Amino acid sequence: LGQSIHFYDTIGSTQKEALRLADEGAVHGTVILTNEQVSGRGRLGHSWQSQRGKNIALSMILRPELPIEKTPQLTLLTAVAIAKCIEKVTNLSCGIKWPNDILCDGKKLVGILTELQAEATYVKAVVIGVGINVNIDVSSFPAELKTSAASLKSLTGKNYSLALIIQEFLESFEALYTRYLSEGFTCIRPLWEQRALNLGKQIKVRQPGGWIIEGVASGISDEGVLLLKKSDGSIAKIYSADVEWG
Ligand code: BTN
Repeated sequence: LGQSIHFYDTIGSTQKEALRLADEGAVHGTVILTNEQVSGRGRLGHSWQSQRGKNIALSMILRPELPIEKTPQLTLLTAVAIAKCIEKVTNLSCGIKWPNDILCDGKKLVGILTELQAEATYVKAVVIGVGINVNIDVSSFPAELKTSAASLKSLTGKNYSLALIIQEFLESFEALYTRYLSEGFTCIRPLWEQRALNLGKQIKVRQPGGWIIEGVASGISDEGVLLLKKSDGSIAKIYSADVEWG
C-alpha cells in the first residue's frame, strides 16, 4: 500500500480522482492524498467538509480478488484500521456505527466511502475514501453538523500531525489487510464487534430509495452486511443505508 502516492495541493475530490485513476489501470495500493479537498463527497449523495491542511482526505485503490458480495468486509476492515490508529495516536476510544462512521463521545469523527468498479461479478477495483477530522474547527461547520461532528482537536484540545496519522493509518490498514487475505474476515469481525455501537439496539435504517425499516441490529453477516431483526422476527440484510437510533 502506498507504493504509488499521488499528492495534490488542491483537488475537488480524492475519491473522484481515485476512480478516474483506477479506470486508467492504477495499481493496487495507489493512494491519493491532498492538502485541500474542495468538493468532498460523502455517502448517499452527501457532501464532506474540509479545511485546508486541517483534515485528512485520502482515497486508496485496492484490487482484491474478492467476489462482489464480500466487498462490504473491506469497509469494516478500514473502520477497524482507523479506530486502531486513532486509539494509538490519541488514547481516545472509538466506536463504529455501521457501516462506516467512527464516533467519539457520540460525535462523528471519520467518514468512509467505499465504491466499486466491477464487471458482472468480478471486482476490478475497490476505491475506499477516508475523511478524518483532525485539527478542524467544527464550530465553523454548517449548523446541522456543528453538534454532530467532532475532530481530534475538538475532543482533546490538541493539534496532531496529519502525516503521522496518515502513516499510522496506512500501517494499521496494511497489517489488517494482510491478515485478512490469509485468515479471512474471522480475524476482523471481533475487532469490529468490540467497537460496534449499534449492535443489539433498536435502530431505523433509511434505505437509498427513501423508505425506512425498523428493527434490532442483531449482527453482521459473514459478508459484512448488517442483519436487522424486524418485529415479526424476520431478518433483513442491509447493504447500504443511513442508520438512525431508536
Ligand atoms: C461519509 O459520508 O461519511 C463518507 C465521507 C467520505 C469522505 C472522504 S474524504 C476523502 C474521500 N474523497 C471524497 O470526496 N470523499 C472521501
